[in-house]
Amino acid sequence: MIRLDHVSFNYPAQGATVRDLSFHIEKGEFVAVLGANGAGKTTTMKLIDGLIKPTEGKVVIGGKDTAAARVSERARQVGFLFQNPDRQICKNTVRDEILFGLCSVRKEDGEDTLRKRADEVLSDFGFSGDEEPFSLSRGQRQRVALASILAVEPDVLLLDEPTTGLDYRECCHIMDRVARMNREKGVTVVMVCHDMEVVLDYARRALVMANGQLLADGPVRTVFRDAELAEKASILPPQMIGLSLRLGAGFEAADTAEALTEIIVSKGGIPV
Ligand SMILES: Nc1ncnc2c1ncn2[C@@H]1O[C@H](COP(=O)(O)OP(=O)(O)OP(=O)(O)O)[C@@H](O)[C@H]1O
Ligand SMILES: [Mg+2]
Repeated sequence: MIRLDHVSFNYPAQGATVRDLSFHIEKGEFVAVLGANGAGKTTTMKLIDGLIKPTEGKVVIGGKDTAAARVSERARQVGFLFQNPDRQICKNTVRDEILFGLCSVRKEDGEDTLRKRADEVLSDFGFSGDEEPFSLSRGQRQRVALASILAVEPDVLLLDEPTTGLDYRECCHIMDRVARMNREKGVTVVMVCHDMEVVLDYARRALVMANGQLLADGPVRTVFRDAELAEKASILPPQMIGLSLRLGAGFEAADTAEALTEIIVSKGGIPV
């Protein structure tokens, strides 16, 4: 579904921002992109979306080179939830916002079908449609932005720090919706995320970046277990995994809170 071949990119008047990135992501995967501030995560997402084109190398989405694809084709295929939802909301009601995206990229479906689709999405997300986006809370605006992207039914969903600034409940709202699209519709998800608990709960594979390069690529739990990698990439593994490793119990033990509790009890407590 997504293929990067030796991709490099530099912003004007700056050295290489990402360098020689190569990886592929199959249909239906749920991948997290991890790394410190400035590592090149957002730049990589923009390259996948086709918002920017590689200076060197090739980005291929669904078999098509982004350098050759039309904007409308890309928008139909790839949905991108920006870190700040206010940068992608532009209409005065939630219904208009959802219809705006739909009408822009699925015009050929006809007005009746698109209105029906908007109603489905509104009810699925629990909106009446008459709400004014800018009088909603940050978490609700994030949901409006996500609803308008999912309405289009893209093959690929890119999320740039989707849970930053949200409380636990809002975070679950967003992430559960995304997980359902991944599970039920096979939507390929690529998510930049600084919250390692969210990564552990939802993603299955992690790409780790530092200084514009790919440092590691593997199952989330394997990546979290590598202390040297975590240090290099400034990643703080989730507390459950950190605690499990400190107890010498290996990372499998962190699968459930109950299993971890049993180990803590059997060891007579947590070593200081
Ligand atoms: N529009 C731009 N023009 C020039 N330089 C940029 C631009 N956007 C990003 N950069 C630079 O490119 C590098 C990588 O930025 P990028 O936004 O991809 O990092 P990131 O991993 O997403 O970081 P963060 O976790 O802070 O969001 C940084 O050094 C940044 O300053
Ligand atoms: Mg970023």
